[in-house]
Amino acid sequence: MVTNQAARLLLRAAARASHATPKPAVRPSSTLAHVRVPRQQGRAGGRRHYSDAAGAPKSGGSKGLIFGALAAAALGGGGYYLYSTGQLADFAGVAGVTAKDFVPTKEDYEKVYEEIAKRLVEFDDYDDGSYAPVLARLAWHASGTYDVETKTGGSNGATMRFQPESDHGANAGLKNARDFLEPIKEKFPWITYSDLWTLAGVCAFQQMGGPAIPWRPGRKDGDIGACTPDGRLPDASKDQKHLRAIFGRMGFNDQEIVALSGAHALGRCHTDRSGYDGPWTFSPTMLTNDYYKLLLNEKWNWRKWNGPAQFEDKSKALMMLPTDMSLVKDREFKKWVDKYAKDQDAFFKDFSDVIVKLFELGVPFKQEERWTFKVVE
Ligand code: HEM
Repeated sequence: MVTNQAARLLLRAAARASHATPKPAVRPSSTLAHVRVPRQQGRAGGRRHYSDAAGAPKSGGSKGLIFGALAAAALGGGGYYLYSTGQLADFAGVAGVTAKDFVPTKEDYEKVYEEIAKRLVEFDDYDDGSYAPVLARLAWHASGTYDVETKTGGSNGATMRFQPESDHGANAGLKNARDFLEPIKEKFPWITYSDLWTLAGVCAFQQMGGPAIPWRPGRKDGDIGACTPDGRLPDASKDQKHLRAIFGRMGFNDQEIVALSGAHALGRCHTDRSGYDGPWTFSPTMLTNDYYKLLLNEKWNWRKWNGPAQFEDKSKALMMLPTDMSLVKDREFKKWVDKYAKDQDAFFKDFSDVIVKLFELGVPFKQEERWTFKVVE
């Protein structure tokens, strides 16, 4: 008979084992010095270097599973007891103990938020100094497969865990984000992947200086059969007609399309993922309205290079995709670009609203109330 205290000790061992810090990526010697990215761009700011899947932190993995399995075996029904009393809310790595009876509270989700924020600071040796942009993209690509007509796709399901969806061209590179979150899923096994990915998106935007984004849980993980067909996400080589068709299918109007696109203040294109190259702004780990300002105020020329057609500014440090440029070519879209370029508060308000809508597309929530989590300083 294992006492509760012994059980807790076992679980703590499991926690330590599965939480063992993955070795951060080795910093390559080459940096893209021509990109004038300020060193500290706010909360998530930091160094930048070019990295790819090889630099991703590996999941805490097998040790946690072994300890977790031992703990679960030793515990028997005790694990259930601890779960149901909420005492396991912040333990780690108890694989094999199901979370069926555990009803997480706002505080439990807040702990998950804080853990993501902590990891973002810890693993700052990636891309422009943060995993936050790629986490934001994971949440968007998980949600942006939604089809209002058939009510398929969307963040409910987290089907990008499976092939073929994980291999869709648009999702190239998102394994970095999924792997980054794996130790968090191990630490908080009761959270679904689909809630975790969207919560990570919220955390990413907020920690990069963006507006508060209210969030609620309730997504369930689906199986491979729920994978969406390829081609539901936008193709950057296309124009405004394509954007209206793709985002219209999700249920978004012109204003919402332009507000969503402001996320391209963040992150960068990678030649080994989309084929495109470079960041949109000089502060790719800080959410601002710079994307709109640059669209309007820079002179954008076709880049002469051996890659897909994209635009570059005079300094050649920044880029725009053909779809980005369509926001200033199209008169209806441009009205909103003008507005957001002039007024960051208006952008932040509309961005928060539209991200809430995006992350909730097609989710059959039971809970009405949304929660706002505090930014971790
Ligand atoms: C309007 C249609 C859109 C197109 C055609 C598009 C296309 C792209 C492409 C080609 C990349 C580069 C991927 C890579 O090479 O790593 C990218 C990156 C990114 N996109 Fe979009 N995107 C669109 C809308 C959005 C929306 C709605 C969001 C979020 C609300 C978003 C957030 C991001 C972020 C944060 C990155 C940077 C990822 C990183 O740094 O790894 N995009 N997008």
